[in-house]
Amino acid sequence: MSDTVERTFIAIKPDGVQRGLVAKIIAVFEQRGYKLVAIKMVCPSREHLEVHYDDLRGKPFFQGLIEFMKSGPIVAMVWEGLDVVRQGRKLLGATNPLESEPGTIRGNFAIDTGRNVCHGSDSVKSAKREIAHWFNNDELCDYTLELKKSIY
Ligand code: TYD
Repeated sequence: MSDTVERTFIAIKPDGVQRGLVAKIIAVFEQRGYKLVAIKMVCPSREHLEVHYDDLRGKPFFQGLIEFMKSGPIVAMVWEGLDVVRQGRKLLGATNPLESEPGTIRGNFAIDTGRNVCHGSDSVKSAKREIAHWFNNDELCDYTLELKKSIY
């Protein structure tokens, strides 16, 4: 567990947008107490997606994954707070939704690994790389959540 404030990159994939899950997914992070510091809807290029998933080049599902991620708009977000990288992955659930616990986003809303609704950075290092890949610095908002002053 990390007791420092971190940032993580969370994306709602095209299936999450198509299925009307944007508000529900945002609510999971808001209600847990995390701070939204950036959000935008984007239709990224193939090249942008291939760099995002660079570590998966060569996997049999890579081209299908890129095609799927290009099939519609994505909601890209940066969330901030204590241990948010690890906690964010827990809120999303396992990569294979059939192994996700009920109560997680994938455990509640998905059954197919190739349509698992959301993405979350898997480490602080990946989060830094992904945030820089999807957002310019001037898109990241620096503000205080008044009700959370004690921990921020
Ligand atoms: P990965 O980075 O392993 O998982 P996660 O998104 O949980 O960090 O894989 C990236 C995405 O690739 C995953 O969310 C869904 C897709 N994928 C498949 O389509 N088939 C597979 O067998 C795996 C492992 C992933």
